[in-house]
Amino acid sequence: MEKKFFDFIIHGGDYNPDQWIKTPEIWDEDMRLMKLAHINSATVSIFAWSLLEPEEGVYNFEWLDTIMDKLHANGISAILATPSGARPPWLAQKYPEVLRVEETGIRNEFGVRHNHCLTSPVYREKVRNINRMLAERYKNHPALKMWHISNEYCGECHCELCQEAFRNWLKDYYHNDIEELNEKWWNGFWSHRVNDWSQINSPKSRGENHVSAMKLCWNRFVSDSHISFYENEIAPLREITPDIPITTNFMKLYDGIDYQKFAKKMDLVSWDNYPAWDKGRNEDEALSTAFVHDAFRSMKDGQPFFMMESTPSLVNWHDVNKLPHSGMQELSSIQAVAHGADSVQYFQWRKSRGGHEKYHGAVVDHCGHENTRVFRDITRLGKVLEKLSGVVGGYSESKVAVICDWENIWATKHFCGFNNLKRDYTDECIKWYAPFYKKSISVDVIPMDADYSKYDLVVAPFLYMLKDGTDKRIEEYVANGGNFVATYLSGLVDSNDMCYLGGFPANNLKNVFGIWNEETDSLPEGMKNTATFGGKEYDVVHVCDIIHSTGAEILGEYKQDFYAGMPAVTKNTFGKGTAYYAAFRNDSDFTADFCNMLIDEIKINADTEIKADDGIVIRKRGSHIFVMNFTDSEKAVTLNSIYTNVITDEKAEGTVKIPACSYVVLK
Ligand code: GLA
Ligand code: ZN
Repeated sequence: MEKKFFDFIIHGGDYNPDQWIKTPEIWDEDMRLMKLAHINSATVSIFAWSLLEPEEGVYNFEWLDTIMDKLHANGISAILATPSGARPPWLAQKYPEVLRVEETGIRNEFGVRHNHCLTSPVYREKVRNINRMLAERYKNHPALKMWHISNEYCGECHCELCQEAFRNWLKDYYHNDIEELNEKWWNGFWSHRVNDWSQINSPKSRGENHVSAMKLCWNRFVSDSHISFYENEIAPLREITPDIPITTNFMKLYDGIDYQKFAKKMDLVSWDNYPAWDKGRNEDEALSTAFVHDAFRSMKDGQPFFMMESTPSLVNWHDVNKLPHSGMQELSSIQAVAHGADSVQYFQWRKSRGGHEKYHGAVVDHCGHENTRVFRDITRLGKVLEKLSGVVGGYSESKVAVICDWENIWATKHFCGFNNLKRDYTDECIKWYAPFYKKSISVDVIPMDADYSKYDLVVAPFLYMLKDGTDKRIEEYVANGGNFVATYLSGLVDSNDMCYLGGFPANNLKNVFGIWNEETDSLPEGMKNTATFGGKEYDVVHVCDIIHSTGAEILGEYKQDFYAGMPAVTKNTFGKGTAYYAAFRNDSDFTADFCNMLIDEIKINADTEIKADDGIVIRKRGSHIFVMNFTDSEKAVTLNSIYTNVITDEKAEGTVKIPACSYVVLK
């Protein structure tokens, strides 16, 4: 299966010619430099609203016409942005309702960006209008190849319009039945029964903030508001330019929006990738970045995504902005492609002269010419990406999935109990992803309501909350021959954060896993228990379930405290499949040892048969094999047959050395 929007890897980035309107000679220089750097795409006009519409109803598109023409004349595709990420001052002044109200109840003044109400009919109308103007004007322009909607949607608004929208959202969610809401929020607790929808407000620190079911609903509402804001934005674009694909740029594992839900509304997923390289932990940084790439790739069933932003050198918003060395920037870009990106794009093409981001890395520095280290690096990478056009559109297949579900990110944050200090759900997901990644086994990162049937193994760390039907899905998957791993604190609550009755994990999962979880212990920092497994002993830290086997084979036991001798790791045959339960948290080798046991037992193969030193990560994408070394020492791989080095066109066989922080691509 292939899904291609271009025949080559997009190499480009955010381009802000609107900042240089008074010096159009810079625009010509931009074109010369872009071609020199093998740039083939520019994301234009992201924050240009105050130039496009300097006064209400007064439009100025001429400069953008010129830019679009220049891009086309130079063979550069335009990814045209809609400008809703930052509004002009006149708009905020005339229609204050467009500005965001913070949790304090105070309306923001004009300033920064992303500062808009998600509900305001006026703002939605103004956005639709400017988007319509853009679409009408450029619908037939040959440079227009993709829409970039707004920029990094984020945040929430607590204004009266949003309060009312929240109440309406709740009416819809709870079938217009206030008693249903009282029941699902367990409102008898602390005398919180409401008898009118108007008694409900958004959660805030000076008001209601202890009803986790309500906070979950607020998360869902805010997320849905962003999606409906986006749908409002794209309506005129779909109508006027039905063939132009649409994306919006996501931010890592940002938890303000359910990206897994949002992705379904986009033609292609894109995200902005800013790892902190060269601070002494490149391997860890590579691991967590790989996880995020895989999460975005999995959002549309393996369809390639775009890396819409990355820095060509440094950022300006880390506490200390270390310059990555040249190889690192290239390796980071190659990693994105290896994990499914069909683009390497930068923030930003040219450094702005003033403003907040003038010291943020760019392809073109304030010096203005091409004789810089960064420009040379980007040019070299541009040539490399041209050699890799064969990967474009290619899907990859994974036999292993790790569940990392956005609603469970919310749920695991909200509840009060057990260990309230160590609750890092996404870190736990990455921890369980790591052993497969390190063995070069491709992993999908999926929501709990995805289709499990295509995987040989599904791992669900800390699956505290179950969306409706998840218990049944797990049961069916295992009954039909799947292998499923759950860990501590799994299957405790339903989608309203209400505990399942009759013992944990929920419902028939007790039979699927052959256990029941009677109590959960939490261990303060520094306090440990010990669990046995596979002839070794492991520290039990932070949290552990005290479980009983009701039929499961016991693979490991606790050694201390009143639960010494009780099961800590179990394995249960259910139907044609197997369900494992790892009841405790360990922060050292247990996860790797346990997963390696699974890899052997279930016979999960690495993506290739290439033998590699520890520290090397190999990813296969179509016929291309990416061999990456994020360590700070030279490593080697032993090839099982004769390959071609795709970048140098040389033959590769036998033992190939990979220097520190570098890579090869083989075919
Ligand atoms: C984000 C934004 C960009 C820019 C960069 C800086 O990703 O989308 O506009 O501010 O950060 O790193
Ligand atoms: Zn609002």
